[in-house]
Amino acid sequence: LDQAWPTLAAAAYSDPAIFAAERREIFLKTWQLVGHACDLPNPGDYLVFDLLDQSAILIRGEDGAIRAFHNACRHRAFRLLEGEGCSPARVRCRYHGFSYALDGHLAGVPGERDFVGLDKAAMGLRAVELESWQGFLFIRFQPDAGPSVAQQLDPLSAHLARYRFPELRPFGRETRDSVACNWKVAQENNIEGYHIPVGHPGLQRLFGERYGFAVLEHGVSRAGGPLPDSLEGLSWSERHYLSLLPAECERAWGYVSLFPNVAFDLYPDQVDFFQIIPLAPDRTLLRSRGYALPDDRREMRAARYCNMRINRLVSREDRGLVEGVQRGLASLGYGEGLLHRREARVRQHQEGVRARLAVPRSAETTQRAT
Ligand code: FES
Ligand SMILES: [Fe+2]
Repeated sequence: LDQAWPTLAAAAYSDPAIFAAERREIFLKTWQLVGHACDLPNPGDYLVFDLLDQSAILIRGEDGAIRAFHNACRHRAFRLLEGEGCSPARVRCRYHGFSYALDGHLAGVPGERDFVGLDKAAMGLRAVELESWQGFLFIRFQPDAGPSVAQQLDPLSAHLARYRFPELRPFGRETRDSVACNWKVAQENNIEGYHIPVGHPGLQRLFGERYGFAVLEHGVSRAGGPLPDSLEGLSWSERHYLSLLPAECERAWGYVSLFPNVAFDLYPDQVDFFQIIPLAPDRTLLRSRGYALPDDRREMRAARYCNMRINRLVSREDRGLVEGVQRGLASLGYGEGLLHRREARVRQHQEGVRARLAVPRSAETTQRAT
């Protein structure tokens, strides 16, 4: 316990070779959150999920089941779908017109008789591994021995049950923000509460003094804190948020995060996921979608509006922080840092990266905490 915690070396946040290794050893082999079953209510509804050079389609079939496929036509590879929408009955390739049934099998081929050696039964869309956990849909591009999402989140299942994930409905629209930093800078910022008192005065007022966290197994961690009883010193949005929250709501904000890049934000009024998607060594997409239990009371809608205002400000503050870190990482005056005990979730994340990439541990064994 008295061991110092050096950070990853600065080069890990810009080196294209490390970025390529992260793609291969981390992102293609870990569960990636795509959305929630409620995003695809009807047969033919689909969501496309892009991750670096890979893309998957999640689509609801005529039988009501949701399936995941690689987003590439089996004929000559054309990317079949973009974004999200509904493709009733068939998915038709816009290159030569191969059409696939919603369960992925190849159903129609133009000029089929002149296709020598075409075995339609073997030319369906290739499946991607899919796990549906409490309504949330996760995919994994490549098989891996790592635990399922259900196994990872099992220790929190009782805590999470109160948020009734399977009953959630879409709320608001997906937000996508591109930030000028490495994905690890964004992830480490998101799972770290040590910066709240300085970086987020609003969050500090809401729960900063009572903020707690826990590091669990399988790359899972949680954090958060109870909301204040007094409205003193709060901003307009914070005050109204707290006074509008219906009485039966649990007055706490919580965060649960999964290695390598996703978190659930647990609010009394809604549940969001927040996902950090690498685009380039120094470019990252922040993707977030909100869900809520059906509740159209005026005060609940107003509380959600205030929540959005509070967290929009937090996002702006975080953007400045992560982009500032990325610029600093290039400095000849940096090299490597040191983690505080309250950055234990960052430590967990960096250990996860080290374990998968075999990044050397530098001076760790020779340093001692004071
Ligand atoms: S690439 Fe899709 S039909 Fe040719
Ligand atoms: Fe932050």
